[in-house]
Amino acid sequence: MGSKMSEKKRHAVLIPFPAQGHINPFLHLANLLHSSYGFHITFINTHFNHQRLIRSGHPSLTAGHPSFRFESIPDGLPPSDPESGQFMPDLISSIPINFPSPFLRLLENLNSPVSGVPPISCIVCDGMMTFALDAAGGLEVPGITFWTASACGFMAYFHFDALARRGLAPLKGEVSEELLDIPIDWIPGMKQIRVRDMPSFHRPTDPGDIVFNYIGREARRAAKATAIIVNTLEELERPILDAMATDLLLPPVYAVGPISLLSCLSQSPIKRSVPTVLLEDGDCLPWLNGRKQGSVLYVNFGSIVMLSELELEEFAWGLAGSCCDFLWVIRRDLVTDSTAVVPVQFALETKERGLVVSWCDQERILAHPAVGGFLTHSGWNSTVESIAAGVPMICWPFLAEQMTNCKYVCSEWGVGVEIGSNVKREEVAVMVREVMRGEKGKEMRKKAGEWKIKLEDAASTEGGSSFVNMQNAVKHVILP
Ligand code: UDX
Repeated sequence: MGSKMSEKKRHAVLIPFPAQGHINPFLHLANLLHSSYGFHITFINTHFNHQRLIRSGHPSLTAGHPSFRFESIPDGLPPSDPESGQFMPDLISSIPINFPSPFLRLLENLNSPVSGVPPISCIVCDGMMTFALDAAGGLEVPGITFWTASACGFMAYFHFDALARRGLAPLKGEVSEELLDIPIDWIPGMKQIRVRDMPSFHRPTDPGDIVFNYIGREARRAAKATAIIVNTLEELERPILDAMATDLLLPPVYAVGPISLLSCLSQSPIKRSVPTVLLEDGDCLPWLNGRKQGSVLYVNFGSIVMLSELELEEFAWGLAGSCCDFLWVIRRDLVTDSTAVVPVQFALETKERGLVVSWCDQERILAHPAVGGFLTHSGWNSTVESIAAGVPMICWPFLAEQMTNCKYVCSEWGVGVEIGSNVKREEVAVMVREVMRGEKGKEMRKKAGEWKIKLEDAASTEGGSSFVNMQNAVKHVILP
């Protein structure tokens, strides 16, 4: 990546939304700003996540680094189990009330002449933490929004209020298939979208109005930023990125994804490729090493999805029925109101060809040659990591903009198939066989391989779109 742009040390303060799927891309961006552009970094987590990262043995958190520092602020919530995530509506209710004051106090301390760090020169906040943009305004420094998810997700959230005006959100009571199939042809840059492809927060099964109102408002508040950085690449989402730039009256938009690939090029003090808030289970790589190329289905539903016991069983027996090898990550809190345990008989029947762990280094697993498919919840990081590894997906979107990501993965990019939300073991078995061994799988693998090259070209080569966009964002906005 480009040479350090200034001799004078600049100081970037980064604040992600407090969840794994946001902290990961933020750490990658922080690495990049630090190593390739010479920024002093202050990375702000909540106390809860800071402690979880330390617990997971993240070396740079415990050892520290003089020009890359972690700080934390309280989240205003009662203490919770570090093995579990936090309930999103609780977090979202707490952010506007409890986050701004400690955040401002921390900024004041950082800017005090005795702090020992350079004065703050920019604030990069999550697209769902835009209170920090007001703080940037107060300090008269650039306030940049980093949207860690897809551009299609952003566009959909941005139009939540329009959805409400048309009587399509928030949905209440019984929702018919006809309603979910209503086409939405009025969102700029998005075509062939239906109500069912919109982020789930407008559905009655989801946390409801608090999250719906908060996320829609946060997406629209991106207009207050000096610039918007998106963890996607132009080649994947060009029509939407164009529409963001021309139809929404937003500040400049820079597509810099996959940020993980871009940050790989940097010599970072934060050496782990995937800094995570949960402890890793160690057995995966040796187990994968003993498997044939492309033979293993990797199954992981990310860091916040919660299944019912019945859904876990259906997936288990579907995997058993597929007769394929599998590596299944089952978080301890994967099942609602219970400890996640697979059926004993399933464990016995599949012990020769299946491995179940509680957490892994996902990017390394996806890059392993033995992995031939990914059964995923379509979280954006998982989606991009899968495409970057050239691995086709079976998508089971569960909440948030995972529905929208899934639509694009399956219909636009041709690298996935969707499994019904009411999961049935027979369907799982058939789909797994089809993706791992069938014609459809072959086609998708070919397509995924083509996308992999495009992603690498965009992010890992000088002149690639994400590489150039990142340089421009730094040159014109972050370090003007
Ligand atoms: C959530 C939403 O799902 C997602 O749609 C939104 O874009 C961001 O917030 P999450 O559910 O955790 O995130 O999924 P995802 O976006 O896929 O992020 C999970 C991250 O955790 C990935 O970077 C993945 O590599 C990492 N991970 C996951 C691990 O390192 N190990 C694991 O075992 C599981």
